[in-house]
Amino acid sequence: MSLTTRRSCRLAAVAALSLMFLIGCSSKTDTAGTGEGSGADGAGKPVIGFVQTGSEGDWRKAHTESVREAAEAAGYELRFADGQAKQENQIKALSSFVAQGVDGIILAPLVETGWDNVLEKAKKRNIPVLILDRQVDVKDDSLYVTYIGADTYNEGRLAADWLIEKTGGKAKVVELQGTPGASPTINRFNGFRDVIGDQPGIEIIASQSGDFRRSKGKEVMEAFLKKHGDEIEVVYAHNDDMAIGAIQAIEDAGKKPGDDIILVSIDGVRSAFEAMVEGKLNCTVECNPLQGPMAFEAMGKILAGDIGDMPKKQMIKDEVYERETAKDVIGSRKY
Ligand code: AHR
Repeated sequence: MSLTTRRSCRLAAVAALSLMFLIGCSSKTDTAGTGEGSGADGAGKPVIGFVQTGSEGDWRKAHTESVREAAEAAGYELRFADGQAKQENQIKALSSFVAQGVDGIILAPLVETGWDNVLEKAKKRNIPVLILDRQVDVKDDSLYVTYIGADTYNEGRLAADWLIEKTGGKAKVVELQGTPGASPTINRFNGFRDVIGDQPGIEIIASQSGDFRRSKGKEVMEAFLKKHGDEIEVVYAHNDDMAIGAIQAIEDAGKKPGDDIILVSIDGVRSAFEAMVEGKLNCTVECNPLQGPMAFEAMGKILAGDIGDMPKKQMIKDEVYERETAKDVIGSRKY
């Protein structure tokens, strides 16, 4: 590919920014005007298209960084598409990567359903798809090679186990749910309920989505406080960012987070550890975002055709952290 063709290709990619996601150019000249070309770039590196959910909080930032760094370390060209919290954008980006003829695709799906058609397109072009972080619910499992991510159902269970232990099985809980339809939202909702099911003393008095965002977590918590006031004993947040937002709302209401109201959340990001050290968050269940190295190890095997014993689901192990010991571990946290 000539330098001029490459340059016009880059200009086209910049123009694509206005379509709300960033896509790199195929290294092979697209004579048919379909956007199709070979995956390998000019330098012979395999090309991977990465379709991310968006940039909703601290966890996502760490996740994107981890994928970028792992791609570079493993010698891949990474083409990044930011879905900006819209499935429609993610589907467009995925179709575009298929049209470009990339060597492989990594998809972090915003929501669980609605992927069948676009994944079929990738399958027809023999482009392997690895599902990362969140899960998909598709009719035909052969539409993707493997899923790598946390066991988010177990995270919900761990949060509930911790709460039972902490409260002796007696608490009035408000729940801040994640993005509707996203697999961690569904799993953390179900995992938590499956454990508290046999605890008549634990009651969920309100539950609403805060979309995994700090600002929305604060907003929903303000509404919960207005409606339920002193009745609220516990906040169960599906992620740390929403818990931090809730902490702000609790403080604004003149209460002491961590003491007047117990907070348990999920992720284990640095700001959660800082909140625990300050005594404002009681517990976080880890959901490790550093998934890039595992993803590229698997992608290497996939591209080499070495998938004989590759499991359909590869789950990352999570730990539970409490405010009492947060100061001993905060220094070793990597995100
Ligand atoms: O899919 C993982 C979840 O998505 C993380 O818990 C959350 O912080 C992010 O938005």
